[in-house]
Amino acid sequence: EGRVATTIRDYIRTIPDFPHEGIMFRDVTTLMGDARGFRMAVDMLVHPYAGRRIDHVAGLEARGFILGGAVAHQLSTGFTPIRKKGKLPARAIAEEYTLEYATAVVEMHDDAIQPGEGVLLVDDLLATGGTAAAGVRLIERLGGVVIGCAFVIDLPDLGGRKRLEGMGLDVHALCE
Ligand code: PRP
Ligand code: HPA
Repeated sequence: EGRVATTIRDYIRTIPDFPHEGIMFRDVTTLMGDARGFRMAVDMLVHPYAGRRIDHVAGLEARGFILGGAVAHQLSTGFTPIRKKGKLPARAIAEEYTLEYATAVVEMHDDAIQPGEGVLLVDDLLATGGTAAAGVRLIERLGGVVIGCAFVIDLPDLGGRKRLEGMGLDVHALCE
């Protein structure tokens, strides 16, 4: 009987024309909403970093919180949120990044990372890499060492992997 193994891609839903006409939105809520899918994703995000010293996980708003929180639990590390501007309660540092027709700002608490800590950055999806690069700058400004950037999905045509690798970063994605 020809049964084929279920892969990460099988759990990801594509929504045409969200949030704009012409965009094929890769929706990971179906992956995270499935018990086996969610566990598979978290296990696979952690796997490349076995034996590496990860002291902390940083997750990018919003879906990077869900994945990164689970990754931090699995690695027995703390978790730090990198949030859109104005959401964090305590003193924070900020980095701007460019969107298609505008700029946006992400922030991290200024005491979230200790100098020299090894940090794993987690998000659901890598597109242009602008969001992740801003997150990396925040971590590095606090003296953190980015051990890797882990994503469920890489959209390779948008160049994010090349951009992050060009910064000397280790990039892992579970699918394209
Ligand atoms: C999406 C995605 C990544 C980012 C990737 O989040 O979850 O964080 O875009 O794009 P980039 O590589 O071109 O920077 P979005 O900014 O839509 O915010 P949300 O998670 O709050 O919906
Ligand atoms: N899904 C989630 N986030 C995104 C996407 C997508 O397809 N494209 C750009 N950011």
